[in-house]
Amino acid sequence: MTATTALRAEHEIILSVIACLRAACAAAVGEGRFDAETFRRGIDFIRGYADGWHHAKEEDLLFPALEKAGMPRHGGPVGVMLREHEIGRMHVRAMADAIDAAESGDAAGRSRVVENALGYADLLEAHIAKEDGILFAMADRILPEDEQRRLEVAYRSAVPAGATAATGDELEGLAAGLCERWGLDPDETRSRPMVGGCHQL
Ligand SMILES: [Fe+2]
Ligand SMILES: [Fe+2]
Repeated sequence: MTATTALRAEHEIILSVIACLRAACAAAVGEGRFDAETFRRGIDFIRGYADGWHHAKEEDLLFPALEKAGMPRHGGPVGVMLREHEIGRMHVRAMADAIDAAESGDAAGRSRVVENALGYADLLEAHIAKEDGILFAMADRILPEDEQRRLEVAYRSAVPAGATAATGDELEGLAAGLCERWGLDPDETRSRPMVGGCHQL
């Protein structure tokens, strides 16, 4: 176990929901079948789990630990990751703003939901590949062992305001339910190998 083991495992769950969102976008564009339920659950999952738990652990625990170990917050990989979290939130806000209109059949609303779901999917897949392939690899190398152990414990008690450990389980169940709905095997939605190199950070 390192300070990034738990975060890498969460990436796999996030990627499985992204694969479901991609499937829902393909059905909306290719077959004219707009499954509002998938997009609504996707928004709930992203807000509650990807952002509420996962990104909060990175922003409140891992990134400050990296700074303390000498990695600058601004102008380096951490700054890029923070900016990408923010862009992801913008995509999700746009999806949430358009979902009611989309569900009632409004074509512009549906396009807005699909465009932002695909924007989020592209962003987060690349973001996760960069974290897994570069930033987390650096974290595993530069963080002292006792700091890695401290982070592991801190992640477990990092529960967002208003949530409980059961909420985390429910959100993971939501991800599994979406995979079932779209006939996807979560094992096949795992992160792809990183394309490119450090310059992408
Ligand atoms: Fe991140
Ligand atoms: Fe992450």
